[in-house]
Amino acid sequence: MKFAALAAAAAVFAATAVAPVAASANEAAVKYRQNNMKAVGAYMQNTVAVLKGEVPYAEQLEANALGLAAAAKLSPAAFKTDTSGSDVKTTAKADIWQNWEKFEGGLTMMAERSDALVAAVQGGDKAAIGQAVQAVGETCKTCHDNFRTK
Ligand code: HEC
Repeated sequence: MKFAALAAAAAVFAATAVAPVAASANEAAVKYRQNNMKAVGAYMQNTVAVLKGEVPYAEQLEANALGLAAAAKLSPAAFKTDTSGSDVKTTAKADIWQNWEKFEGGLTMMAERSDALVAAVQGGDKAAIGQAVQAVGETCKTCHDNFRTK
């Protein structure tokens, strides 16, 4: 009896959960990629804060760089869903999915340069670390200029 009631409730829930799939799938996709970018942004900002000596957490530099590289590698998949036909609020331009290879290339470059930053941090040379951070930063700006609304 109890099981039957539960099963019935689950069936109702499944039916209502499936109905509005188009709208909520786009919403979820936008939320996911924005969270991914927030993670990229947070690791980048904390990496810079440590490098500038704004916070006394030098021992966390490598972990922040590794976090940045990990988040950057999630980005290509995070942007795959074309939400340009929906009315979900986003700053992503429709161009992304019309020029996917170029866009994905930007994300790949961000990930590669983040890996290079990790290597520079592990190498310990301050000038090299500074250059590597700057190289990552250029990928953010180039892509945002091209593929993000202001
Ligand atoms: C190849 C393209 C590309 C690269 C590279 C890129 N971004 Fe983004 N980023 C985007 C797009 C597109 C959005 C808008 C996403 C949306 O609103 O759906 C975005 C959004 C953001 C956001 C706002 C997230 C939110 O809360 O809505 C932050 C923060 C951000 N990016 C940081 C960065 C940083 C830092 C880097 C470099 C380390 C970077 N991005 C590299 C394309 C890129």
